[in-house]
Amino acid sequence: MVTIGATSRAAEGFASGLLGVALYKGETPEDLGEDAAAVVSEGDFSGKAEETTLLYGQMGPAPRLLLVGLGERDLFTLEKLRRAAATVARRARTLKLDSAAFSLPDLPDTGIQEVARTVAEGARLGLYRFDRHKSAAEDHDLEMFWLLADEGALEEATEGAELGVKVAEGAVLARDLANEPSNVATPEYLAERARTIAEKYGMELDVLDRAGIEEEGLTGLATVGRSASNEPRFVVLEHRRGGDSAPVVLVGKAVTFDSGGISIKPSAGMEDMKFDMSGGAAVFGAMEAAGDLDLPLNVVALVPATENLPGGDAFKPGDVLQMHSGKTVEIVTTDAEGRLILADALSYARRYEPSAVVDCATLTGACVVALGAHAAGLMGNDEDLVAELQTAGEKTGEKAWPLPLFEEYTEQIKGDIADIKNSGGRKGGALTAGAFLKEFADYPWAHLDVAGTAYGKKANAYTTKGATGAPARLLVEFLLGRTR
Ligand code: BES
Ligand code: MN
Ligand code: ZN
Repeated sequence: MVTIGATSRAAEGFASGLLGVALYKGETPEDLGEDAAAVVSEGDFSGKAEETTLLYGQMGPAPRLLLVGLGERDLFTLEKLRRAAATVARRARTLKLDSAAFSLPDLPDTGIQEVARTVAEGARLGLYRFDRHKSAAEDHDLEMFWLLADEGALEEATEGAELGVKVAEGAVLARDLANEPSNVATPEYLAERARTIAEKYGMELDVLDRAGIEEEGLTGLATVGRSASNEPRFVVLEHRRGGDSAPVVLVGKAVTFDSGGISIKPSAGMEDMKFDMSGGAAVFGAMEAAGDLDLPLNVVALVPATENLPGGDAFKPGDVLQMHSGKTVEIVTTDAEGRLILADALSYARRYEPSAVVDCATLTGACVVALGAHAAGLMGNDEDLVAELQTAGEKTGEKAWPLPLFEEYTEQIKGDIADIKNSGGRKGGALTAGAFLKEFADYPWAHLDVAGTAYGKKANAYTTKGATGAPARLLVEFLLGRTR
């Protein structure tokens, strides 16, 4: 796997096959040689985001110069830089080079540590591949990716690179877990992966099996998982580095395969429902990063993991469940299973007297209709917490956008014969799902619906088709914010 580190811009002889330099749209490169200037002045390279031009024999020790566009200077975001870095790393790999370098730009409003972090993240994520099930894997890997900084900024750049790599590795873990098919990534498999994290960083782990889940009264999880022969698990992973402070609890939906159950889904596209554990995957990814960064916080991860399958023992539309909290729920559709397992995790979270609880889940198709693949739906009962998460989303490029939880949505899920029902129908589907969860949260709480952002049909500069790892980086950024 690639090593990412910073070195001095002036350092002669860093053996790089390619030097990447980012340029704003319409701006002429300085000190990059005549050809680079000509490519711009002739209009062959405009500098629009992610555009590239490769030149040879231009500068210093690198035989190749890759110009990469950042778009308009006025419209600059860190996300554009992240994508530019990924583009450079990918091109170097395509060229089968062993190493590449990227010249860190000098940004007026962003410190060099942040710049380096962003570039390192982009490079690491851009080089991600999920090929463990291919018999003939593409063999070439880039070995070294250098961030070039001014001598005086080297320390900060190195710190930024380390942070970026650790955050990206969290997202990589989330991608790996989510990309695994459901015959591999069973609830027990996820529990085992949590064990690996716990052992690596000295975290506490508690895994409830089917009997433990029933005994604890996690009815929603026990009921959804009842008909599956891959038994459900309830995973509790605790990072305790925050002394006596109230913990942050992260809850992640991990339905390892969502067939819809008795309310079965159409078969077209059903294979995507292996990604229905992406929320749980992101929570584990965030915990991996929290451990690696040794964050001075108490963080508890709660991951209810189960399959949702039809069967002779499956739950049925019309059934009434008494949840972990004591509230009763009328099942309108067995395909609204995510909120059932999350509700139990949310009421389980009360025992921690948490400072905040954030759940993330591929919860509703309605959220995908509302926000597409570009932002997660963000709901909650605490304005400050919602704002914190929105900011973390902006910073990481894993955007999250606030959606309302008006009382009317709670009205919409009032039960006929029980307290509430598990679906409010088609109208405002993401919001009635949020309103459902709200019934189980009596502490500062927010919900991220990542149904549209956790996986995709299309690659971008630093994602591949399949799992994106979202919202793992958003969660890490949120945790980092809580250490400041
Ligand atoms: N896992 C799905 C939501 C989903 C849909 C995720 C599409 C990713 C892409 C969830 O369990 C579900 O089936 N939700 C239903 C709820 C409805 C039946 C109230 C939905 O969104 O259709
Ligand atoms: Mn479902
Ligand atoms: Zn689901």
